[in-house]
Amino acid sequence: MIARTQQAEAHSPVAESTLVIDHPRVAVFLAIESSCDETAVAILRGEPGGAAEVLASEVASQIEEHREHGGVVPEVASRSHSLNLNALVERALDTAGIGMGDVDVFGATMGPGLASSLLVGSTAAKAMACVSGKPFVGVNHMEGHLLSPFMDRTAVPPHIGLIVSGGHTLLMDVRAAGDYQQMGTTRDDAAGEAFDKVGKMLGLPYPGGPGIEKAAKNGDPAAYDFPRSMMQAGELDFSFSGLKTAVLYTLQKNPDAKITDIAASFQTAVVEVLLEKAIRAAKRADADIIGLSGGVSLNRAVREAFSVRCGKESIELAVAEPGVCTDNAAMIGFAGLLRFFAGKTDALDGDIDPNLRL
Ligand code: KG4
Ligand code: ZN
Repeated sequence: MIARTQQAEAHSPVAESTLVIDHPRVAVFLAIESSCDETAVAILRGEPGGAAEVLASEVASQIEEHREHGGVVPEVASRSHSLNLNALVERALDTAGIGMGDVDVFGATMGPGLASSLLVGSTAAKAMACVSGKPFVGVNHMEGHLLSPFMDRTAVPPHIGLIVSGGHTLLMDVRAAGDYQQMGTTRDDAAGEAFDKVGKMLGLPYPGGPGIEKAAKNGDPAAYDFPRSMMQAGELDFSFSGLKTAVLYTLQKNPDAKITDIAASFQTAVVEVLLEKAIRAAKRADADIIGLSGGVSLNRAVREAFSVRCGKESIELAVAEPGVCTDNAAMIGFAGLLRFFAGKTDALDGDIDPNLRL
């Protein structure tokens, strides 16, 4: 329920004509994600202080469309978002068994991502909010990933969050939902980007991560001693471009090298660096939980290594469910619901930000 009010109390910092939300106890949130090459719509039902229920989560992947180009083509992505979105919204409403009128809040990813892709989803969500007279919540894509390991909980606990996606490698000190401090990031390639680039060198289809994981299963992880960069004491930033170049030189020098051995040795180097930095960050922040999210967290070698080491260090490991590791709208809806229940909504004339930071 929303009321448009005039500023009343002198002490109120609320500007004139601010939307004041009288929270429904239960809110149904329709979320759209379109920051890169997945068009996604989800519907969640949540209540303040309660666990969120995902009623529908639809994803239309564009991987096949981009595969022939070896990476994401922005114009192709935005056109596909436009073509897919209406049908996905209808499918999500059908799956959830509700009508548009049952939605209490609309939300969408505002950044970071491709401008022309972000515009499609955010404009659609704002239009639906406008037509229905319901509030709109803009969501940071990285906050969606960051909170995704905790979607089944009633509250986000203090923890160290490691996001390993195609575009980002971020180590965050999370004190609570909405209270974050960055501890580390990549100085060059993101972890997923390194998987994709090495996958391309090995002749594997885009995106390279799943193919490398598969090849690595039959390879020797000690066959090549690839560099682990920025491992000096206290360092929490990452760098993967030296590793990527080392793989390239190895392939040039040994054209008959086994793909499986290269994949296994590369994957092991990435896993070791990610794990070491996450444990360092947890110790520095005195955190006893590590949250792991983003597309690379689908990788079983990553999951297993984190699980074993966290067990040894008496740190709880919270990993995003496989369905919410790669881009999806359920994680955007979850982060959006938390913002909404914290009293935050966004203006319909607010802009997307391709470089939005956490
Ligand atoms: O989180 P995401 O969908 O994208 C961004 O928000 O950027 O992650 C996509 C990334 C790609 O780089 C892809 O290669 C990687 O996740 N990925 C994997 C695996 N599955 C996806 N990397 C390693 N192993 C996997 N099994
Ligand atoms: Zn993502």
